Amino acid sequence: MLHKRSFFKKPRNQNQMDTISKTETAFSKDVREGLIDNPKHISSKYFYDERGSELFRQIMRMPSYYPTDLEFEIFQNQKARILKHFAEGSEAFQMIEFGAGDGLKTKILLSHFLKEKVQFSYSPIDISGSAVENLTEDLEKEFPNLILNPFIGDYFKALHEFSQKSKKRKAVLFLGSNIGNFTETQAIHFLSSLGAELNSGDKLLIGFDLKKDPNVILAAYNDPEGITREFNLNLLRRMNRELGANFDLDKFMHAPSYDPMTGETKSFIVSKEAQRVYFENLKLEVDFYPWEAIWTELSQKYDFGMIESLARESGFEVETHLNDEKAWYVDSIWRKK
Ligand code: AVI
Repeated sequence: MLHKRSFFKKPRNQNQMDTISKTETAFSKDVREGLIDNPKHISSKYFYDERGSELFRQIMRMPSYYPTDLEFEIFQNQKARILKHFAEGSEAFQMIEFGAGDGLKTKILLSHFLKEKVQFSYSPIDISGSAVENLTEDLEKEFPNLILNPFIGDYFKALHEFSQKSKKRKAVLFLGSNIGNFTETQAIHFLSSLGAELNSGDKLLIGFDLKKDPNVILAAYNDPEGITREFNLNLLRRMNRELGANFDLDKFMHAPSYDPMTGETKSFIVSKEAQRVYFENLKLEVDFYPWEAIWTELSQKYDFGMIESLARESGFEVETHLNDEKAWYVDSIWRKK
């Protein structure tokens, strides 16, 4: 049985419109647009409320979620090569990290660069104030000689400010295969905007998760502990709490997919039955037919050809690819043209 989509039953009057626009946030706007669209979708950027961020920290510690450990391994084994590319002889540089988080992997580089007595500074950027504050405190204790310029806020605003202040070469880190959460068009737009704030010769070290045995990839997004399931369904909890929705979590399931041709790894929330969900704060009804899905995340997997083409399209050239022994993950170093 196919249910007709019903949105607002009655046309909204001006009063209702006023109330709605006053309380409309980016989240409520995107949810409304995404759930009345066909097929349904909500951006994965909304995973990261307090509980979502904690669940993601748990995911990074799971044995089946291999990217974190592999990037760690690459940094351990290739820190000297990374330094060669960043310092190019003995030039001073500013290392800038987008979405620094707890900085665990970056500490390997910091410790090596300091040991080698290189002239550099480190600028962690994160939109989370507490993440930057905790990291700064931690780094000041662990590396008292490190020159730190932290920034809380938007990545591009930070880059722009840094460019005004210093003419030193920049080396930007964008780790964790975060680029994989963008579609190709979004990734080119993001990387070109990043490049627009750089000078010719500046560097970008960017982490990509590679295509591999489809079962390994699916296991990373469908762990037996059910943490990724919780992470995905937490979006329903968030809509219940923040938008007054009445999702019954038992009536939905987590479903990941992997397409070995394109490398697209997608996560969906699937409705197990025909049902109607009501959003009190949005005065919105959303109908689901049995097994209808909401697309919630893209975690793109790449091959080397795709990475080279992404670099080219965004105004960079690839200097080197540093991968782990199994070639499951790569940190690619690019130079701004
Ligand atoms: C943050 N991002 C790169 C992770 C990924 O693999 O797409 C988020 C994640 N989703 C499920 N597990 C991890």
